[in-house]
Amino acid sequence: MVKVGIVGVGTVGEAVVKNILKNREIIKSRAGKEIKIVKGVVRDLNKKRDINIPLTTNYKEVTQNPEIDIVVELMGGVDKAYEVVKDALLHKKAVVTANKALLAYHRFELQKIAKTPFEYEASVAGGIPIIKALRDGLSANHILEIKGIINGTCNYILTEMKKGRDYNEVLKEAQNKGYAEADPTFDVGGFDAAHKLLILASIAYNIDAKPEDILIEGIENINLTDIEFAKEFGYEIKLLGIAKKISNEIELRVHPTLIKKNEMISKVDGVMNAVSVVGDIVGETMYYGPGAGGDATSSAVISDIIEIARGNKNPMLGYKIPLEIEKVSLKEIDE
Ligand code: NDP
Ligand code: HSE
Repeated sequence: MVKVGIVGVGTVGEAVVKNILKNREIIKSRAGKEIKIVKGVVRDLNKKRDINIPLTTNYKEVTQNPEIDIVVELMGGVDKAYEVVKDALLHKKAVVTANKALLAYHRFELQKIAKTPFEYEASVAGGIPIIKALRDGLSANHILEIKGIINGTCNYILTEMKKGRDYNEVLKEAQNKGYAEADPTFDVGGFDAAHKLLILASIAYNIDAKPEDILIEGIENINLTDIEFAKEFGYEIKLLGIAKKISNEIELRVHPTLIKKNEMISKVDGVMNAVSVVGDIVGETMYYGPGAGGDATSSAVISDIIEIARGNKNPMLGYKIPLEIEKVSLKEIDE
């Protein structure tokens, strides 16, 4: 049996607990062992919850618990999450996280500490297995471009605004559905998409850029008139994250973009995400699926838990910081 502790039992954490129970048999057959969640960490022990696991407010009861094999960090934020993940890794726990903000700032550093598996499939594009696609499926390629809709909340808002609906009302709806970050400014300001873009770029190019280094523009200033005009001229407005290799430099940017209606990505609506990755051997590949929400995200988190439980990974490798695969630097963009 593999024993798991979850730090953060909110939208995603609850879905992980529920879906591990729901698909217990198939998960067991694929992992080769039963997976049991033995403890959860929360802020408020009195909150009403739909799940039934022992809870604590002290994360060390999970990260330093000799019984626990895998620590799953689903609390969000950067500083406290960093403390939790570092403590877990130092106590030789395998770690799974969905926390893109944490990874955008500290992935390389944490990965260097890790002597145990450290996985983060759910951190980009929710239920789409884009990390495994980029890291494993496309590993024979130089990556020429990554371009995608990687924030479900913004795509949901822009889609609903096409129907004439009010921005603030739709944002509230996205929060109620569990799509938005605890602070939704991260979504609508483009920062969440930037965190995800940086994770993808760090895998594709081994580049350790920070959000402060790149161009980020959100959707707060898009209004119904912009959307109407775009429509009139045959375009959709989408918030895109773009990473482009131009000789030995990488251009990274996040901003609302006009996309021609005949392009596939223009048809991606609601909470769905889509990522196009161009490799020098394979050409363009495209990944599509639900980009946010408890169930979709839990699918990716559980896949990491299964992968670790199966023991495919050699824990002594400390995990896949690529060697110097490309000599690239960040491109400065003239705004
Ligand atoms: P929630 O806000 O719903 O849940 C956060 C959980 O963490 C809650 O259980 C909360 O406790 C607990 N928590 C927060 N701070 C602390 C703390 N200091 N000490 C102990 N417990 C704490 O967030 P989500 O589930 O939506 O997101 C979790 C992570 O997953 C984030 O990093 C997010 O970016 C990422 N993610 C989310 C997706 C989504 O669609 N929601 C998709 C992909 C990634 P309490 O319940 O008591 O408040
Ligand atoms: N808030 C994020 C989004 C959650 O809307 O895409 C998924 O990472």
